[in-house]
Amino acid sequence: APVVVAIDGPSGSGKSTVSRAVAARLGLSFLDTGAMYRAMTWWMLANDVDVTDAEAVAVACGKPVIVSGTDADGPTITVDGQDVSGPIRGPEVTAQVSAVAAVPAVRARLVELQRGCAEVAERGIVAEGRDMGTVVFPQATVKVFLTASEAARAERRAAELRAKGVDEATIVAMAADLARRDAADSSRETAPLAQAADAVLVDTSELTLEQVIDRIAALVEE
Ligand code: ADP
Ligand code: CDP
Repeated sequence: APVVVAIDGPSGSGKSTVSRAVAARLGLSFLDTGAMYRAMTWWMLANDVDVTDAEAVAVACGKPVIVSGTDADGPTITVDGQDVSGPIRGPEVTAQVSAVAAVPAVRARLVELQRGCAEVAERGIVAEGRDMGTVVFPQATVKVFLTASEAARAERRAAELRAKGVDEATIVAMAADLARRDAADSSRETAPLAQAADAVLVDTSELTLEQVIDRIAALVEE
């Protein structure tokens, strides 16, 4: 059976960076499932759906066509054919994505797309998110739960934003938002962020990026 590597963890633990690098190194596909929840949220906001109204979100969530390109060397995400890779990282989407992701109908729809991506991946896939090991791919070949201290995670996000030229006030606001989002993702009823019983815990606080990538690649190659 093709390899499925499931990587979960809170925001800023390194999931996207590490998963993509592991996939590129091992010749596997790469799926950023957070980008799909962000794309769904972007579409809701663009179409004036009240994202605080779970019923309205559930009714609308079947409409957008969300397509993930899973090439680890250049992942893509489109909504109704439009490249949304830029706008889905903005503060508006980031502030609302946890509310949209808590709606069961949204999750049902995106989980189906995620499993479809794994089915068509030629050599296998590295999929990262919040519920890869617990819900989407319970039979994954390897499961990893990535963590880092809240301070380390906030510092990494701040460094990324600083490099982009974002002002300090926005950086402080984004750090608060990160903590709020992690709490919301961990406490929701449907598919809360949690470590699967058979997942390997990797705390990246004191590791370099290279060390984390090496460790996970080694787990897959075992
Ligand atoms: P997530 O997908 O979990 O939100 P990202 O991969 O988007 O995390 O962001 C993690 C950031 O932290 C990246 O900019 C990455 O380069 C940086 N980073 C620094 N050190 C590490 C480390 N040891 N492990 C993982 N990421 C690290
Ligand atoms: O990269 P960052 O940690 O900022 O977030 P992300 O991975 O892009 O995910 C954005 C949001 O989508 C999360 O805060 C969750 O609310 C939701 N999400 C989810 O519910 N389930 C997933 N498998 C992936 C993301």
